[in-house]
Amino acid sequence: MPISVTIRNLQTLILSFHPIIVIETVEEERVQGLLKKVTQDMSMPLFEWSAAQGLIRSPGTMDAPWVNEYAPPGTIKPTTIGNTAEALAVLQHLQDMTIKALFWLKDFTKHLDDPVVVRHLREVAQLFSQNRSALILTGNDVQLPKEVAHDAVYFDLKLPGRDEFAYTVKDMVRVLRQKHRTQIDLQQEDGERLVQALSGMTIKQARQVLAYAALDDGKLTACDVDRIVHRKAQIIREGGVLEYFPLQENRAELGGFSGLKQWLARAEVGFTAEAKALNLQPPKGILIVGIQGCGKSLAAKAIAQQWKMPLLKLDAGRLYDKYVGESEKNFRQAIKLAESMAPSVLWIDEIEKSLGADNGDQDGGLSRRMFGSFLTWMQEKSQQVFVVATANDISRIPPEMLRKGRFDEIFYVDLPDVKERTNIINIHLLLRKQDPSQFDMAALLKETEGFSGAEIEQVVIAALYRALYLRQPLNTELMIQEIDSTIPLSVSRREHLQQLRAIAKDRFVSVR
Ligand SMILES: Nc1ncnc2c1ncn2[C@@H]1O[C@H](COP(=O)(O)OP(=O)(O)OP(=O)(O)O)[C@@H](O)[C@H]1O
Ligand SMILES: [Mg+2]
Repeated sequence: MPISVTIRNLQTLILSFHPIIVIETVEEERVQGLLKKVTQDMSMPLFEWSAAQGLIRSPGTMDAPWVNEYAPPGTIKPTTIGNTAEALAVLQHLQDMTIKALFWLKDFTKHLDDPVVVRHLREVAQLFSQNRSALILTGNDVQLPKEVAHDAVYFDLKLPGRDEFAYTVKDMVRVLRQKHRTQIDLQQEDGERLVQALSGMTIKQARQVLAYAALDDGKLTACDVDRIVHRKAQIIREGGVLEYFPLQENRAELGGFSGLKQWLARAEVGFTAEAKALNLQPPKGILIVGIQGCGKSLAAKAIAQQWKMPLLKLDAGRLYDKYVGESEKNFRQAIKLAESMAPSVLWIDEIEKSLGADNGDQDGGLSRRMFGSFLTWMQEKSQQVFVVATANDISRIPPEMLRKGRFDEIFYVDLPDVKERTNIINIHLLLRKQDPSQFDMAALLKETEGFSGAEIEQVVIAALYRALYLRQPLNTELMIQEIDSTIPLSVSRREHLQQLRAIAKDRFVSVR
């Protein structure tokens, strides 16, 4: 979202008499920049408070221009107003102030255990709802007591958009050149790739990776872009809920699936400017259900690759947290990240185990709520985030998810047919530097009837191991020995597969 829209939304909240506005974020630097712009346009003074420095006139605004070491010479450091380091004292002070202003209180909720502080906060809120002053509360996790909750509104600060990163890059380039004599060698298109590479991070992280990339060798060049993408993958993984597969590192080779591939080619026009001009919505997402080991997960990777989009995988296990409220927050964060990297592919593997599960009241309704927020988001999302969900067990998917209109299409994957198996055998031989023309393909196809893609891959790997051990080249005979010693799922779980097939065949579209 462009910063201008964020500024306008926040101004609207202030103008419409919201006395307490909560922004859940750890990006204080960014909040400061945002509030400065918000108040500048409205000619409103900005104050900030923390337990460490008490209440001050916010530095860097028109009336208090000091920022930090980079500030112009002659500017003065702000001093604490009155005796306002204590939470209670600052609220009492605010009740006596007649000025109409924006007051930013950092990490204030920690002080709301005290009923007297809560009472004073209510008084301030009442006062402000009349004079259009507002309190901004920030922190990582802002939980308000009931008494004040109804006076508060939560403002959803999206991750920084392209325009903010473009500004950050420009600003960092200036500082690096001036202060560190860094050699900057970036063409216009490198600059665009750099901004793209930074998206999904916070501004602080962006500054850190830029500084690291530059100071490491005294240069900032096109080569640094790939390293930054790599670093972003680490940052996202450390964040916990998502795994990021950069386009550069996504090498999925999917055999078969020709129906799905055609569908994708057609759906791709939905992302173009022409489609937008015609008020067409971009594609929302698909669900792929079907037999284990037949390439559902691989398909998710192949889609991102075909569409040249970054791929983000939602780690269902890590979504759920033992603390109340954290799981939902994790989900919101994952969505935010995917949106900030749009156009992107969000891959929800085994959705029946995470967002689709209905554990009744066992978990206090958590899984149902998560499922609800997922569907709402799917319905309303405006960003170009394409969801690829996969599932093995259709019986565990709530019917609402399968209803027409939720996903653009629901695909069914069955065991590969002859043509697809030919493809898959070729792919896995070639991946391991074997020449498919040296094998008796007809024999291999006959023997692998009923095998899944994953089982075929295992056969190739195991046979190649044996060949290496026996110090001989891989041949058809070794492959067939491995095939014979494999009991495929289509045999060991025949009934299960038949049931799945019976449900799926008529209801869903085949990937072939
Ligand atoms: N159509 C295919 N083309 C190429 N390789 C395949 C194909 N299907 C499966 N494979 C191989 O099998 C491996 C496992 O497949 P994948 O994980 O995509 O299956 P899945 O349907 O997601 O299974 P699960 O239900 O167990 O998650 C892949 O990494 C790939 O090497
Ligand atoms: Mg899978």
